[in-house]
Amino acid sequence: MRKLDSPDHREPAEQLLRELHNQSILPFDEARALAPALYCDDAIHALELERIFAREWCCVGRAGDFATPGRYLATDIAGEPVLVVGGADGTIRAFSNICRHRGARLLEGTGEARRIVCPYHAWTYDLEGRLKTFTFMRDGFSPDGVCLPEFRTEAWNGWVYVNLDPEAEPLAPRLEPLGRILANYQLASYEPLFRVEEVWPTNWKILIENFTEPYHFFIAHKDTVEPALPTRMTRHEDDGGDGFTLFRQFRAPGVSYEYASDMVVLNDLLSEEERSMYPIINTFPAHVYSVSPERLFWMSLQPLGTDQVRVLWGVDVYPGSIPGGKAGEERVAELRAAFEKINGEDKGIVESIRRNAGSRHAAAGPLSPKERCLWHFQRYLARMLRDPAS
Ligand code: FES
Ligand SMILES: [Fe+2]
Repeated sequence: MRKLDSPDHREPAEQLLRELHNQSILPFDEARALAPALYCDDAIHALELERIFAREWCCVGRAGDFATPGRYLATDIAGEPVLVVGGADGTIRAFSNICRHRGARLLEGTGEARRIVCPYHAWTYDLEGRLKTFTFMRDGFSPDGVCLPEFRTEAWNGWVYVNLDPEAEPLAPRLEPLGRILANYQLASYEPLFRVEEVWPTNWKILIENFTEPYHFFIAHKDTVEPALPTRMTRHEDDGGDGFTLFRQFRAPGVSYEYASDMVVLNDLLSEEERSMYPIINTFPAHVYSVSPERLFWMSLQPLGTDQVRVLWGVDVYPGSIPGGKAGEERVAELRAAFEKINGEDKGIVESIRRNAGSRHAAAGPLSPKERCLWHFQRYLARMLRDPAS
């Protein structure tokens, strides 16, 4: 018997890409799930980093996370160490997180720093990435012109995106249709509530697919999401565009949604329909979020391997939705527990799909009409992964 994930039953990456292309041009009525091998293949993973994550706009959080000068996030995009930091001038910048002396990683995790001090020999940079101070260097050494390489950033509706590719097209034009759909929610005003960073043992595409289909609500989330936001009440009237997928959830009338039970809609711009409508979005490649009139629940993914994905997730709220003092603290804890519970319901399943993808019995089944975003995502993958020379 062949071992699971053994190379002898894997298809070469070129063949997988050809099959992905052929599948992506089928009409939706004939669409099928991704080939399981696409979740396991190391060459596909390497291509995804090179052709998708190193070229696309990757979300690193919200402008509110970097509003105080010196607030930072150290992360990796397509394996490249990146440091995002709020400047004293209010500009959010992204730098290489590699010291210009002998290459140590400058900062880790998140925090606040007035200066960027290398933990190895204390070369010290300002918030604009310029080397300012150092000790024990030879006479005549000048810090002038010693700067951390800078990456492009773009803010959109309160989100902060970083792109490693200096030639990349700007993000805003391709999100224009999404901007129109979301305009009344006033996303830029939503304020950060909490952030979590985790590594999930699954393939990033499985998690994107999971977030962008409501087909599983009625069973996988039967006691949490489904009573108030039932699978049967979801709609897929837009395909998104080149830059995103979208479907709409609607609240079941008269059912109190336990995660928004004591929240009132404060945003007067919203129409009657928007008050009960929760758009679910993936901004390609891997920034998923659910919008409600009261709060924003989001994840940004970076693949670390075929079976590891770093998940930065959080919740933000419309201003005034959370009371002050103790009641507010309790509300935040309750919301966090609620979303951890929903994530927990998904986690076991998306991990099992990755494990099973290595089996010779794994197969790609037909998609439900409730999985339309998956078809759209496949077409995006096929477009991005094809050989630029072909
Ligand atoms: S590696 Fe950073 S100061 Fe030496
Ligand atoms: Fe789910």
